[in-house]
Amino acid sequence: MFPNREMAEKELEIAGQLNKGPWAKHSMNVGLAAEIIAEKCGNLNSDKAYVLGLLHDIGRRYGVSARRHGIDGYKFMMEKGWDEVARICLTHSFPDPNFDKEIGKNDMNEEQSEFVKKYLNEMTYDDYDKLLIVCDSLADDKGFCMLEKRFVNTTRRYGIFTFTVERWNATFEMKEYFEQQMSCSIYDILPNVKETTFIDAPLWKPPVK
Ligand SMILES: [Fe+2]
Repeated sequence: MFPNREMAEKELEIAGQLNKGPWAKHSMNVGLAAEIIAEKCGNLNSDKAYVLGLLHDIGRRYGVSARRHGIDGYKFMMEKGWDEVARICLTHSFPDPNFDKEIGKNDMNEEQSEFVKKYLNEMTYDDYDKLLIVCDSLADDKGFCMLEKRFVNTTRRYGIFTFTVERWNATFEMKEYFEQQMSCSIYDILPNVKETTFIDAPLWKPPVK
């Protein structure tokens, strides 16, 4: 079960008021990216993809948190009966479905950590899990950008781990999986990737002779 577009948009709006920050716009862009890619793939429900993107970080409605936003979102979505969204709230942070390969502070309690660990262990990712992992890595609050930019930004925020490159590679593989299905690059179908990727780039100066 998942909500319709209007209900999802309303939930994100409420959540964005409860905890203000760039995460709400990021969520909108993840939803749009997921919808565009799903439409092009043909075998995915683009409304579902949009709604999953909109609500993947909904756990942030409760305030600033690190790894806890996943389980908070899962619980909130389950209370609403939207189990297909709840699942994404947990899987989107794990390009490798291994609890020990997550970045950021573990601010979950022991019971929550055990739950997530077991949940991931028993899980086989479907196309929606993969799609949302990729889209989370190519949309920021300003639009769509290269995965590499998001990877560097995330690494600057959370630091380098022994499994950082593994996470990157797993995400690249998922990106390529969808590109094969679409027979084109993800960057060919998302608008303004070039502009958004280089939005913070310093001005080019001609080399000094
Ligand atoms: Fe996200």
